[in-house]
Amino acid sequence: MPEVHYETQDGIAVITVENPPVNALGQAVRAGLAEAFDRFAADGAAQVAVLMGAGRLFLGGADITEFGKAPLAPSLPDVIAGIEASPKPVLAAIHGAALGGGLEVALGCHWRIAAPGTRLGLPEVSLGILPGAGGTQRTPRLIGLEAAGRMIASGKPIRAEEAVESGLIDRLAGGDLRAAALAFAAELKGEAPRRTRDLPAPQGDLSDLRAATAAKTPGQIAPVTALDAVMASTRLPFDDGIAEERRLFRHLLDTPQRAGLIHAFFTDRAVAKVPGLDAAPRAIDHVGVVGGGTMGAGIATACLLAGLRVTLVERNAEGLDRARATIDGNLDTAVQRGKLTADKRAGLAPAFATEMDALAEADIAIEAVFEAMDVKREVFATLDRVCKPGAVLATNTSYLDVNEIAVATDRPADVVGLHFFSPAHVMKLLEVVVTDATAPDVTATGFALAKRLGKIAVRAGVCDGFIGNRILSAYRAAADRMVLDGASPYAIDAAIRDFGFPMGPYQVSDLAGLDIGFMTRERLKAEGAPQGRRATFADALYHAGRLGRKTGKGYYNYTADKRGAEDPEVERIVAESRTGPARALDADEITRRYMAAMVNEAARVVAEGIAARPLDVDAVLLHGYGFPRWKGGPMHWADAQGLDTILADIERFAAEEPDFWQPAPLLRDLAREGGAFADLNRKDTA
Ligand code: CAA
Repeated sequence: MPEVHYETQDGIAVITVENPPVNALGQAVRAGLAEAFDRFAADGAAQVAVLMGAGRLFLGGADITEFGKAPLAPSLPDVIAGIEASPKPVLAAIHGAALGGGLEVALGCHWRIAAPGTRLGLPEVSLGILPGAGGTQRTPRLIGLEAAGRMIASGKPIRAEEAVESGLIDRLAGGDLRAAALAFAAELKGEAPRRTRDLPAPQGDLSDLRAATAAKTPGQIAPVTALDAVMASTRLPFDDGIAEERRLFRHLLDTPQRAGLIHAFFTDRAVAKVPGLDAAPRAIDHVGVVGGGTMGAGIATACLLAGLRVTLVERNAEGLDRARATIDGNLDTAVQRGKLTADKRAGLAPAFATEMDALAEADIAIEAVFEAMDVKREVFATLDRVCKPGAVLATNTSYLDVNEIAVATDRPADVVGLHFFSPAHVMKLLEVVVTDATAPDVTATGFALAKRLGKIAVRAGVCDGFIGNRILSAYRAAADRMVLDGASPYAIDAAIRDFGFPMGPYQVSDLAGLDIGFMTRERLKAEGAPQGRRATFADALYHAGRLGRKTGKGYYNYTADKRGAEDPEVERIVAESRTGPARALDADEITRRYMAAMVNEAARVVAEGIAARPLDVDAVLLHGYGFPRWKGGPMHWADAQGLDTILADIERFAAEEPDFWQPAPLLRDLAREGGAFADLNRKDTA
């Protein structure tokens, strides 16, 4: 039960919020705070109040689970107004973090002291809202318009050391926070409360920051709206500014973007809770990496950055030199980007070996060699021979059958897929691919390793492409069909960027290399897999040597413009590869087909248990494929559209191309029952 404690010591009331795990400001806490400050007002024995948080942080902000529900009194702005109005001084004593409404409570207090290293931030825009409890009016009064605007529009927290410079807090606590706060409070006895609301209105203009923010966050409403609320502080008296903030806050609260971002927040946390998995992970300290290409070197870099011991094995000295150079380059870039200090970087290096015996003591071996089954099986047979009992044997394959790789060893229970995304030391997503035989503690070890690497792990079953690449190949196929039917690849890229992806599918092809797609088409052909209509224009570009960025030309021409210019030559090649008359597809039709293919395949992936829940699909697309976070992921987006709308689209497309557009049974059933994918999230996580 959340509690707000009240005690007095030497004429000082100490009010402590205890609501684990993050002291969120839910209704019970708000009511408890209001009551505690009423008691303080009436308490003749207390001249000053100190407000603290119990546990690991001060206050984690509004209770996000209450958003989208009917508001419950007392409201946070009212509670804060009550604290600020206190006739006796109030000091906030902050440790760990003060975020969102948590920092806004502190700004309503009359003084602030913080432990070194404390993070102070207004991250609301990352949830699709704005600081709605006075943050947009009090912050600029305290630290100036520009600094407040930057903090609110970016949502990024600052450290207490920086906050004391800007005036957001008054003092850094040396030593024990409670003792330092009590000493500060003793100095404040008899002082008149110093209310932020009474500070002069800030001056200035944020139009440059607003323009820069709009350019940086295309398609998103909250960051620019938050700046509009901050600007209101320059022209309106405090109470009117608060009313304007409230109006804009309520408007954002009702947007689909708010719902999408909050879904993404909870999804990021829910994916780690795999239904039915409660095994403890095996200990990992020493990681072996087999293969030093881009992927292997990236995985080694990620492990080094997380403080793990790494041994990298390559076939020969040449391979090792290449791996060493890639890892050095990765680490140097991390230093340049401020993610790593030069001092720490100096101590980071893997051990290098050309013999697999060097992995005898590794706790986990991650294979990242050439994508061919016979090569992988040979590596795993060797790992089986050299690795110690209990070592986890992982493959980074992106589509091969991990069951088949596992049986190349005598210990298939120790084998798991760990599918990293390139560049492996940057991309957040890790698919943990579980075979028929993978032991639960091996799966748990994949999740524990991901956490250590700062990644988001998602459990995936075995199939061609697992969760992400399987869904990708479906929506890529839909895009290729549209090109064959008459859409320009440039029109498709533009429509998909407008939807919110950072790049369209043909820009992604240019980045990855057109040889990759070509090899995949050839492989599927050799395997006798049903291929449908082949992307003949992509084959033609491949044969013309237009492999993408690496050859200076692909779908786009990079020779004059590094960002890539549209190229009439490509339009010509595409037109020649069409077998029938071209038909027009507008941006709306393009997006509908692209998204319907994505959602339809995702429904199959869930129904087959490849993804445990719809939210697992959302996490994969959000963290590995550039799906716009404010749309929450494809399953959340589909629910928001209404599954009947998506089904109607698929049925319309199926009338023309029944071989490609068969509605997934799960999608069809949910749409007919009036259900939603979200219902399946709840069922499995309850
Ligand atoms: N409300 C409700 N639940 C919250 C929460 C919040 N504000 N913040 C965290 N939680 C929950 C998480 O969902 C998680 O729950 P489960 O264990 O059931 O998964 C649990 O608390 C622990 O959270 P984390 O795993 O994230 O813990 P952490 O130690 O890694 O991080 C944190 C702690 C930095 C506070 C992080 O949780 C966080 O960033 N929280 C969100 C903070 C935020 O955005 N606050 C602003 C809210 S909006 C607002 O305040 C609007 C306003 O102006 C009034």
